[in-house]
Amino acid sequence: MERSFIETEDGSTSLYVPALNEHYHSVHGAVQESRHIFIQAGIEFYGQENISVVEAGFGTGLNAYLSLIHAETRHCSIRYTTLEKYPLSEDEIKALNYPSLLPFDRPELFNRLHTSPWEEEIALTPRFTFLKRRTDIREWQSDTQADIVFFDAFNPEVQPHLWTTEVFRRFHESLKPGGILVTYCVKGIVKQALRDAGFSLKRLPGPPGKREMLRATKA
Ligand SMILES: C[S@@+](CC[C@H](N)C(=O)[O-])C[C@H]1O[C@@H](n2cnc3c(N)ncnc32)[C@H](O)[C@@H]1O
Repeated sequence: MERSFIETEDGSTSLYVPALNEHYHSVHGAVQESRHIFIQAGIEFYGQENISVVEAGFGTGLNAYLSLIHAETRHCSIRYTTLEKYPLSEDEIKALNYPSLLPFDRPELFNRLHTSPWEEEIALTPRFTFLKRRTDIREWQSDTQADIVFFDAFNPEVQPHLWTTEVFRRFHESLKPGGILVTYCVKGIVKQALRDAGFSLKRLPGPPGKREMLRATKA
């Protein structure tokens, strides 16, 4: 997949995919968006000290790195599983500026998110356990029950096959009762597919540049 670099408005880097005319993050701020949707409306809202997260779309590793920082600075423990079909190249990873931009400056941990082996769960820190699965989001089979799903695939306009009832049903099954799925997308077809998969929905204020986001809960 051909990709090019951009700097978003909060100074953090992101990637652009010309073939899809899609960005990996909001051009208004990659770190700002990721914190708002996944850390604040996801992990912080959920509020438990020992959680398991599944991410659809590892990409730059930003959501995973912010989760690791959360675990380390808030003294909670996170078991993080992430799914990715099109990993970044070494050069792309080197060009990302997240470790130098964030107050928790641990570039070696950010690099290990990318260099750690696929399909092998490792304790990156005593509080953050990490498993990277090289798989298509549609083919993933859960073997444990998660607390939170970060659903971060490309926009349904370019990847409609990933935002279906069938895919969401699988994530619904993978969650504990009371578990949540958070995503940036509030499109009508996405809301309908999530409801059909069994979720109840709440629209929340989005990050700067985006009016709303979604949190879906398993009853
Ligand atoms: C919006 S970007 C994700 C951004 C990522 N969470 C981050 O923090 O950089 C979407 C991600 O989904 C991945 N992806 C796209 N189609 C996929 C598929 N069918 N299965 C697994 N991953 C896929 C892309 O390669 C990309 O990394």
